[in-house]
Amino acid sequence: MRGSVVCVMLVVCGSVLAQDVPPYTEDCRSGTYPPSGPTFKGKVQWYTVNLDQPPYERWQKLISDKKAPLNELIQHIKNLAKAIFPNLIDIVDNKLPFLIGKLPSPFGEEMKGVADAAGLPLGEIMLFNIFYEVFSVCTSVVAQDTSGKLFHARNLDFGLFLGWDVKNNSWIVSELLKPLVVNVNFQRNNKTAFMSTSFAGYIGMLTGMKPGVLTLTMNERFSLDGGYIGILEWILGKRHGVWMGFLTRSVLENATSYDEAKDLLSKTEMLAPAYFILGGNKPGQACVITRSRTSSINFWELDTQKGEWYVLETNYDHWKPPLVIDNRRDPAMKCMKTKGQKSISFTTIYDVLSTKPVLNKLTTYTAMMSISENKFEAYLRDCPHPCMPW
Ligand SMILES: *[C@@H]1O[C@H](CO)[C@@H](O)[C@H](O)[C@H]1NC(C)=O
Ligand SMILES: *[C@@H]1O[C@H](CO)[C@@H](O)[C@H](O)[C@H]1NC(C)=O
Ligand SMILES: *[C@@H]1O[C@H](CO)[C@@H](O)[C@H](O)[C@H]1NC(C)=O
Repeated sequence: MRGSVVCVMLVVCGSVLAQDVPPYTEDCRSGTYPPSGPTFKGKVQWYTVNLDQPPYERWQKLISDKKAPLNELIQHIKNLAKAIFPNLIDIVDNKLPFLIGKLPSPFGEEMKGVADAAGLPLGEIMLFNIFYEVFSVCTSVVAQDTSGKLFHARNLDFGLFLGWDVKNNSWIVSELLKPLVVNVNFQRNNKTAFMSTSFAGYIGMLTGMKPGVLTLTMNERFSLDGGYIGILEWILGKRHGVWMGFLTRSVLENATSYDEAKDLLSKTEMLAPAYFILGGNKPGQACVITRSRTSSINFWELDTQKGEWYVLETNYDHWKPPLVIDNRRDPAMKCMKTKGQKSISFTTIYDVLSTKPVLNKLTTYTAMMSISENKFEAYLRDCPHPCMPW
């Protein structure tokens, strides 16, 4: 699978980069917030999911609203998968559903509820959920201003390698995903338990805030011992690890402090490697946890005494250089430096995340979270031509 993926990437490089140069990159933007103009595609809609309802029922309303775009995306993923592995869909439709009982509560029941509400086979909803375990690339940052307030923000980039639309100059999956982006307010006892920006149909969490307690984002970490192997092992019966999206969901739902979250995110065995970017509710509480499948291999925490007033992660180990053709880290850091610690806020962080190539053709949304100001905002993004393809 990796082989064919690399192959697709080379084809894309050859045909797309040529027409996209220049400019890939631009100077650090300013004045982009509040969002407007061609890179802003709209506010993300809010939904409520009531955790007091049985897991099977809680996604009903949201999924019935998003049924059409969800069907469209899954059809597209199936067509892609069929082109690479002709037998895959047969396995997905006929074999995967038998494994639903192996998923811990509440996830199996939730997936059943989503599948029925969407009118789709259970195996396809499982495949859709597996997808996020392996295909998201992103930029996440947590910064502390001079008064000690933390701001946590991210761009969610998704859809690389999954088909380029020559006519629209866009990644097909990235475009199909935008109508599925939702903000979810998860409630317990009629009160907000946590909030998340998510994709309708996905029950794990990539971006979330537990008001008063913590903020969390996850970025994909590519590795040879990567997601595919873990998932394959899981399907074949070796089930030590947990799905990444379930771990982040459990942390947001049930962890009660930054330290507890840090511990769970560092030590829980997973199916795929990952970067967890975690923020707490006190000055100094922000870190990037670099994970292998079994454990934390690097822990990087904010250190304002040493002048490290933010942590920033894309999809490469922070102590190593990023891939030359995908360097979003340096432009983002340069822009953070230009803005400076004194002026850090939603306004300036949105500028950083609107600067190409931090903003790129894969970017589906930008989310910004602040515990101290109790704010959670998410915006749909576009990156009209000319714009770097990833
Ligand atoms: C791509 O462009 C075609 C027309 O050129 C349009 O019908 C279609 O909706 C576009 N697709 C996306 C995903 O933007
Ligand atoms: C939540 O609010 C609704 C309507 O106000 C009420 O009927 C319900 O009993 C409440 N549920 C809980 C768990 O408090
Ligand atoms: C959170 O804890 C409750 C109560 O123990 C449990 O029922 C629920 O399944 C947990 N949620 C997740 C996502 O693990």
